[in-house]
Amino acid sequence: MTIKIGLLGLGVVGTGAAKIILDPSGRNSLVKDISIVKIGVKSANKPRQIDLPPNVIETDLENIVNNPDIDIVVELLGGLEPARTLILKAIANKKHIVTANKAVMALYGDEIYKKACIAGVYVLLEAAVGGGIPIVKALKQSLSANRIESIVGIVNGTTNYILTKMASEGTDFEKVLMEAQKLGYAEADPSADIDGLDAADKITILASLGFGMQINRHDIYYEGIRGINSIDIKYAKQLGFVIKLLAIAKKVTNNTSEKLQLTVHPTLVPEEHPLAHVDGVYNAVLVEGDPLGEVMFLGQGAGSGPTASAVVSDIVNIVDALKNNRTVSSSLDYINSDLYKITPI
Ligand code: HSE
Repeated sequence: MTIKIGLLGLGVVGTGAAKIILDPSGRNSLVKDISIVKIGVKSANKPRQIDLPPNVIETDLENIVNNPDIDIVVELLGGLEPARTLILKAIANKKHIVTANKAVMALYGDEIYKKACIAGVYVLLEAAVGGGIPIVKALKQSLSANRIESIVGIVNGTTNYILTKMASEGTDFEKVLMEAQKLGYAEADPSADIDGLDAADKITILASLGFGMQINRHDIYYEGIRGINSIDIKYAKQLGFVIKLLAIAKKVTNNTSEKLQLTVHPTLVPEEHPLAHVDGVYNAVLVEGDPLGEVMFLGQGAGSGPTASAVVSDIVNIVDALKNNRTVSSSLDYINSDLYKITPI
């Protein structure tokens, strides 16, 4: 049984995912059961970094979400539109969704999950947070016995790459940003990285999973790294600190209430703290739970290979479910599980 997929987007991540699927040997045997039927792109004639099977390129993206042959739509367009509309149309057409789109899922996750639930399809988003780090599955499954106390992460590879280079080489901000763009780490509009919005989207998703409630992205206070210069980094170092852009979701309890602190901002991290040593494009997510204590997830948080790894693992999960009559743990079940009723502050 072959499971047919349609990819929306053939940028850095789409190309990485297609490469994995077209070269399945040595991977999970279910990768062999994935067939790329169509790939939606804006321009059919753009030079590509990959040899594709004939006739897969499609410039009308609606044709992909409406294609009756396709079982799974893999949305790798980024940005809010047309991604949201296409995801909703695909769901209405009873297609499962795999997406790396943190912006759409942070803002419209509630609507998308609910429609998917009604349509009886899966929506998986491992690639939306932490690139190759399996943090979504960890929060949904491996850590599910815990009361989560806090989730603190370096979840934007571009800004971590910039801060690391500024600290180690004193390199100018704009120059390092251009390097990060060339390496395929930055968003199409890198202000989403630099100003903390990308990290705000990601902590919205992680906090929703960790605290079992749909967090509204507008409840996150965020600021980015535009105001940080080499002098700040130098003085921080003299005082024994490293500057990191942290995304924080933390339960704050006093005698009368329990609230959730949701913030993204540059933070002075003591040199001896594990997050201080997360450098370059690496991301790390430190989760504290009861009775777990602390656990830290570390890995490359952006770029073609790591993000494509997460995308294809989600596809494989759905292929497994469809072929073997299993169910995939859905984010909606978890988010609506009423673990807590905490008000964001
Ligand atoms: N622009 C994002 C980052 C890509 O730098 O982390 C991965 O989500």
